[in-house]
Amino acid sequence: MKAAWIADAARGDLSIVVGETADPDAGSRGLIVAVEAVGLTFGEPHWVTNGAGPLPDGRPRPLPVIIGHEFAGRVVDAAAGDHDFTVGDRVFGLIDFWRNGAAAELAHVLPSEIARVPEGISAVDAATLPIGALTAWQGLFDHGHLQAGQTVLIHGGAGAVGTFAIQIAKGAKARVIATARGAESVALCRSLGADVVVDTAAERFEAVAGGVDLVFDTVGRDLLERSWAIVPRGGTLVTISGEAEDAPSPERARELGVSAAWFIVSPDPGQLAQLASWVLDGRIRVKLDAVYPLDDARRVFQEAAGRAHAGKTVLKI
Ligand SMILES: NC(=O)c1ccc[n+]([C@@H]2O[C@H](COP(=O)([O-])OP(=O)(O)OC[C@H]3O[C@@H](n4cnc5c(N)ncnc54)[C@H](OP(=O)(O)O)[C@@H]3O)[C@@H](O)[C@H]2O)c1
Repeated sequence: MKAAWIADAARGDLSIVVGETADPDAGSRGLIVAVEAVGLTFGEPHWVTNGAGPLPDGRPRPLPVIIGHEFAGRVVDAAAGDHDFTVGDRVFGLIDFWRNGAAAELAHVLPSEIARVPEGISAVDAATLPIGALTAWQGLFDHGHLQAGQTVLIHGGAGAVGTFAIQIAKGAKARVIATARGAESVALCRSLGADVVVDTAAERFEAVAGGVDLVFDTVGRDLLERSWAIVPRGGTLVTISGEAEDAPSPERARELGVSAAWFIVSPDPGQLAQLASWVLDGRIRVKLDAVYPLDDARRVFQEAAGRAHAGKTVLKI
């Protein structure tokens, strides 16, 4: 089959290869999906070099590894097991980051990683949800414990995760302040429902974002560091940026009396099904940044650093 993979940990984006490789095997517990669309996360080629592995159990991330861990497609082979998926089902999901991803004609997935795509949602739209929207959900609710009536500051509101985070937080009846860079991204955040949008190229978020209950950071660096000062005692700071070693310091959190967390999104079929239903009923809409063919994978990653991102980039297989 054709696939796009990372060949060399040291070379980051430059090491992405598009070529022919062996078809996956469903194994005893798995399913094989004919992939139709796969969502991209541009930091992925750097997870290896920057030490996203090894996993807590000591497994390093294997190389070569097929990129793109959020996908939508159709089941073409299903091993018997404790699941009710059958050949022909339209599914979407999130594949464990330490196995091969889905930027390929075929992908091996586990029943615990997927949910059905309802009629009315395209494969391209469905492929944006498992990392983009699931990360937003888990950051806001599972780690951020956001409640109706609270105020959340979302850093990187125009990004793949941020565009969903704004909409999901508004759907939960929270007040949303978002940060973005540049007029187009600011307008996008407003169109998604943000109550206040701060253009970080022109103003400091501290000037308008006093008294937030939760900061959900997707940018890191300076924005994350400065956010500690605006989370009050009893508030929460959640970040998904960087690697485990960039996680907020528990000592600092204790001193300030705030909860602070860094996490890696995990598959959750129930949350995926709920997100799909929100797309169908219009509570959230997908913001696509760009769609490319699989053959362009290497170029798309190499050019990603030099351009702004508004929403999700998808490869159509
Ligand atoms: N831990 C996890 O489970 C997890 C899951 C998903 C993603 N991530 C990580 O989270 C980060 C965000 O992911 P993503 O897919 O949403 O990336 P993305 O689509 O590139 O979005 C990032 C957004 O942040 C904006 N931004 C950057 N610097 C900013 C600043 N100073 N002020 C305001 N906005 C700024 C970017 O704007 P420009 O385009 O103008 O730069 C872009 O719109 C990445 O590092 C990714 O690897 C982690």
